[in-house]
Amino acid sequence: MSSYLNIDHVSITFPTDKGPLNVLDGVDIKVEQGEFISLIGHSGCGKSTVLNIVAGLLQATEGGVLLQEKEVNEPGPDRAVVFQNHSLMPWLTVYDNVRLAVDQVFKKTKTRAERDAWTRHNLELVHMSHALDRKPDEISGGMKQRVGIARALAMEPKVLLMDEPFGALDSLTRTHMQDSLMEIQARLNNTVIMITHDVDEAVLLSDRIVMMTNGPSAKVGEILHVDLERPRDRLALAEDPAYNHYRAEVVKFLHERHVQPDAPASAKADADDDESEGEQDGIRLVS
Ligand SMILES: Nc1ncnc2c1ncn2[C@@H]1O[C@H](COP(=O)(O)OP(=O)(O)OP(=O)(O)O)[C@@H](O)[C@H]1O
Ligand SMILES: [Mg+2]
Repeated sequence: MSSYLNIDHVSITFPTDKGPLNVLDGVDIKVEQGEFISLIGHSGCGKSTVLNIVAGLLQATEGGVLLQEKEVNEPGPDRAVVFQNHSLMPWLTVYDNVRLAVDQVFKKTKTRAERDAWTRHNLELVHMSHALDRKPDEISGGMKQRVGIARALAMEPKVLLMDEPFGALDSLTRTHMQDSLMEIQARLNNTVIMITHDVDEAVLLSDRIVMMTNGPSAKVGEILHVDLERPRDRLALAEDPAYNHYRAEVVKFLHERHVQPDAPASAKADADDDESEGEQDGIRLVS
């Protein structure tokens, strides 16, 4: 049986000044409808490139992407993207940034009043109702990211593609956004692919964690099934041996089996120390 979203043997090579650079080599990920997948791997391995290919913004050199058995060749509202660097239209207000996407998707199926209410509802989900009339340069980076998330959710996409959506947020807002994303996803059964550098975030949110090897020619290294009951409660899970086992598996993959090749020697020496805190190569071990 074919999968809902099939990332099928995707390879991509970019031309560069120093000759062709093979970034992805046969990346194969099958995603079921309603599944929440995290992509994790060291900086520069090609995670954003995978997401951009699924979004239809980049074309694979070999292989391709099928959504419900149809080949993905261009961007479309069935695959909404929350970019690594928030990408709002600077000349539009917070409200209009979301409304534009809502109008694009629901022009024929919702009345003006319904589109207005839906825009406001989605901005409320991310706690941005107080800033509807502000422009992007009048709000913080974290707020911009929340508007980007509201815009993507408001499109009710078949697949939600998120590139480190919470990376720029303070830890309290991040916690809150993770919880609302879990709630929204449980309610709407969205299919999600999320890139993250945060090990706890990956375990908390995902059904499966796809761990990529270092580039160039990055591949899928291992796939971890996170078999924890939903709804998930972060406080209860902190004490849960299964949760801590999954967490340790991801940390081991990143810091023992696939250490960043140019990491300083001291980071490599620390690599088997699961208790080490702080950030190494942007991978957040303790949030
Ligand atoms: N258009 C392009 N032309 C040439 N090289 C590119 C292009 N886009 C990406 N790359 C290279 O592909 C590699 C993977 O980039 P990508 O942005 O996918 O990494 P990433 O895993 O998302 O990293 P990070 O965690 O830092 O966001 C990098 O070496 C990058 O320089
Ligand atoms: Mg990236």
